[in-house]
Amino acid sequence: MANKFGVTLGQIVLGNGSNEIIELIGHAFLREGDQVVTAEHAFVVYKLMATLFGAETIEVPDPGLVHDLDAMLAAITPRTRELFIANPNNPTGTVVSMEALDRFMDKVPDHVVVVLDEAYYEFLDNPPDTMKYVREGRNVILLRTFSKIQGLAGLRIGYGIGPEELITVLHKTRQPFNANAIAQAGAVAGLADEEHQNRTKQITDEGRTYLQDEFGKMGLEFVPSYANFVLVKVGDGNLVFQKMLDKGVIVRAMAEYKLPDWVRISVGTMEQNQRCIATLKGILGK
Ligand SMILES: Cc1ncc(COP(=O)(O)O)c(C=O)c1O
Repeated sequence: MANKFGVTLGQIVLGNGSNEIIELIGHAFLREGDQVVTAEHAFVVYKLMATLFGAETIEVPDPGLVHDLDAMLAAITPRTRELFIANPNNPTGTVVSMEALDRFMDKVPDHVVVVLDEAYYEFLDNPPDTMKYVREGRNVILLRTFSKIQGLAGLRIGYGIGPEELITVLHKTRQPFNANAIAQAGAVAGLADEEHQNRTKQITDEGRTYLQDEFGKMGLEFVPSYANFVLVKVGDGNLVFQKMLDKGVIVRAMAEYKLPDWVRISVGTMEQNQRCIATLKGILGK
């Protein structure tokens, strides 16, 4: 991994999924009464972990379901310890640009650890060069995972990359055997298997275009996505989830993300996508 990403071994920490790294960052940097800044519709685990460590989560409005980096900067106080940018974000599938990130990184104060969660990074056509922030020794931790493009979510292996001073602290907070040998073997194989990654990206690109086209034809509002899922407005999200589940198609209701009218649909094989759309049409009477 160090060779592939052009960093040193001391700049990498493995986790039992990148989820665990979010927890390690909490162990390392959060105390009761601290603040964590996130976007209002960011991946929910940031808030769960903040709560676990007694920190307060400041959820910054994200117009159009896109992170508003200027507003997130403005939300930073002397009590802010961590700030999360999910790029692309789950569940919205939206991104922030390299220019916006550069502007943000130039202004963010030193007492804040910036976590760039790049779980879906490999699905981007033009991924931002965020590794440069690590090379520059910025106060930043990149999160990546083998759960998404490599499809190894069940193995539980993800990683953090950052300046050695930060990563050294994270190593002190982890259990000694947190990333198991089978997962590491799978990760190394997955990293080398570019053909599989390319095929997965292609299937995802085609499937996402298909789903978004079909939502458009059905007159459903959706959020154009850069990840391997699409957020679509269906009315009562919990009801649609239940009815689709009854037909053997699992989508994700979004009430816990304060989006009760929406469901998030993961891109599958084309056969699965077609079955999903046919099921959704039947339920919505389209
Ligand atoms: C934005 C984001 N970050 C991190 C994760 C955690 O993934 P894992 O723990 O499987 O690496 C997820 C999983 O859904 C995610 O959507």
